[in-house]
Amino acid sequence: MTRVCVEDFEKDALRLLDKNALDYYRSGAGEQLTLNLNREAFKKIRIRPRCLRDVSNIDIRCNVMGIDLKWPLGISPTAMQKLAHSDGEGANALAAGNVGSIFILSTLSTMSIEEVASVAPNTNKWFQLYVYKDRSLTEKMVRRAEEASFKAIVLTIDAPIFGQRRSDIRNGFSLPSNLRLANFQSLQAAAGVQSDGEGTSGINVYVARQFDATLTWKDLAWLVKLTRLPIILKGVLTHEDAILAREVGCAGIIVSNHGGRQIDTVPASIEALPEIVKAVGNDLVVMLDGGIRDGNDIFKALALGAKVVFVGRPALWGLACGGQKGVEEVLNILKKDFEISLALAGCQKLSDISGDMVAHESTYAKL
Ligand code: LAC
Repeated sequence: MTRVCVEDFEKDALRLLDKNALDYYRSGAGEQLTLNLNREAFKKIRIRPRCLRDVSNIDIRCNVMGIDLKWPLGISPTAMQKLAHSDGEGANALAAGNVGSIFILSTLSTMSIEEVASVAPNTNKWFQLYVYKDRSLTEKMVRRAEEASFKAIVLTIDAPIFGQRRSDIRNGFSLPSNLRLANFQSLQAAAGVQSDGEGTSGINVYVARQFDATLTWKDLAWLVKLTRLPIILKGVLTHEDAILAREVGCAGIIVSNHGGRQIDTVPASIEALPEIVKAVGNDLVVMLDGGIRDGNDIFKALALGAKVVFVGRPALWGLACGGQKGVEEVLNILKKDFEISLALAGCQKLSDISGDMVAHESTYAKL
């Protein structure tokens, strides 16, 4: 059957992926309250459309941090994409480029920085960074991203250790032996995503061994100085941290709860967005991921002040269903859907979207 929305790809991906991979991709932490909230919160926002405003020509192009994009959506970093399809991160990056989106490559990728750069040279690529206990490993990755023409470093700040994803613990999640973390040479850093046995997820074991949980805001000065690339912080959920991000010299932030995979019961990204935009929206590029599944969601996030939004799982479902082609289909569906949202809400271009074009459902409940 023709797939017409992200959910159709998700349904098919659920059938195609094996349990180890599927549970890893789809799970949130704890009771998954935040995972579900990312969707529920969008449903509580109403669009207030304006009519009779000539929408015969829709223009969704934008410029973000000096990069021209065909539309304001990119692909969030997700780890180990060869678990979804043998073409892995390269296919995802190519698709993103073909549809005019940004691709963010994860540190924990199954294709290396250099491989992805050579498969998708024309895609606008950012590199997601985890800071390793071995700082020289971290520094080398930043240099390699620079060399390979990645255009920004996206530091994930919500993962000093990893959240408890119950299915992964039950499954004893491990990276299959035919795959490796391609950015590393040493066996320990490349292939260490292995469960310790019953009751452990391999990703938690890996992160506890490798990642530097001592990291603080002071270390950010080091990172900002280390590279000429702009630094974007991913995982900001409060205006307090957004203000610190501005103070240390970051260029942007991604409001995100890591797809509900870290600390459970934090707000949905879209709920956290307004306080952050209010605090730093004029100084930093504020972006968002978490729960974007259709054009109306993109519209709502932009109306609340995000400049670009990102999707993680939808791209994985596309990848699982059909490699590069599958991701392109998902992105094209989202793009078309967003154009329709824009036109039906009475906007020709992104700057026509204003905060008063959305309202929380409680506004109407009071009537
Ligand atoms: C995760 C990491 C890899 O959520 O970002 O599993």
